[in-house]
Amino acid sequence: MGAEYHVGVIPGDGTGPEVIAEGIKVLNAAADRFGFGLKYTTYDLGGERYKRTGETLPDSVIRELKQHRAIFLGAIGHPEVAPGILEKGILLKARFELDQYINLRPVKLYEGVDTPLKNKGPAEIDFVVVRENTEGLYAGAGGFLKKGTADEIAIQESINTRKGAERCIRYAFDVTRKRNKGKKLTLCGKTNVLTFAFDLWERTFYEVAKEYPDIATDYAHVDATCMWMIKNPEWFDVIVTDNMFGDIITDLGAMIQGGMGIASGANINPEGVSMFEPIGGSAPKYTGQNVINPLAAIMAGAMMLDFLGEAQAAACIEAAAQKAITKDLPSLDAGKMGRGTREVGDLVCRYVLEQ
Ligand code: IPM
Ligand code: MN
Repeated sequence: MGAEYHVGVIPGDGTGPEVIAEGIKVLNAAADRFGFGLKYTTYDLGGERYKRTGETLPDSVIRELKQHRAIFLGAIGHPEVAPGILEKGILLKARFELDQYINLRPVKLYEGVDTPLKNKGPAEIDFVVVRENTEGLYAGAGGFLKKGTADEIAIQESINTRKGAERCIRYAFDVTRKRNKGKKLTLCGKTNVLTFAFDLWERTFYEVAKEYPDIATDYAHVDATCMWMIKNPEWFDVIVTDNMFGDIITDLGAMIQGGMGIASGANINPEGVSMFEPIGGSAPKYTGQNVINPLAAIMAGAMMLDFLGEAQAAACIEAAAQKAITKDLPSLDAGKMGRGTREVGDLVCRYVLEQ
């Protein structure tokens, strides 16, 4: 028997629990096949708990989560809870308190998956976005003056620290080197307008670049980045950007890679506890119907194993998911897969064991 990894599980809201169940099924199949152990502790967090108790993510749970090797998260978001409460109280609090300063989002079109981009295929759509995950507009700095009056002022400040930009940029250079594909890192910013924040980012970027002579550097404004992601996605290898821009361009990325059914991401603290999640949200309208696609959660599980050092098992899950897509799934969209959530999980398990 190999290592045993303790994983904190937050199924969360909506379809989160359904996709996490399939993710765990597949993780367990990979653990059996490759001879390591996974021990799960499930945390009841999300809209239902908030409605019941008023709690979001209590500090005691943060302390417990810190004892785990990784966290596997389903989705946060509840139609009966006002926007912002659960997002800030659970998801952002976890990212900030656990100092998960990287949000890593692969944009990869699998073979046999439809993309809305004409004449583009898996060879063209294969890059990674490294999003800063603890600063920028997400830091919560700002406030109101004269709220509710005709003279109301709302200020929302973007916090950019040298340390925060530098550690993110350095991580992105490391990802680019390790990936060893295009060996090109693109900084996505807005140096023509955000002349303070992205001045800091740009100076830091080119300074850190000197430590990576093997990596080519490039720069694109965020609006142009959106344009190139549609027109010439093959130009990108790794993109590094701030929190807000990263949030926006990775939804665009999810669409060109075939939709939310397949898009996954990792909130990484390289020195601490990281959290792996499908990025599609809680999809309340599909809850409990066995129609949501679990592949994004399954791929998030694969990223988790890779991060834990079980690269072979991660690659096996990815290959098994690819096989299910090629052989069995006419579409990755909820309700159009020709199979239910559980059946897709079963298929991937079978292929993991057969690979
Ligand atoms: C994401 C989500 C979150 C974000 C929301 C739910 C707070 O959109 O993970 O991209 O904006 O970071
Ligand atoms: Mn988002």
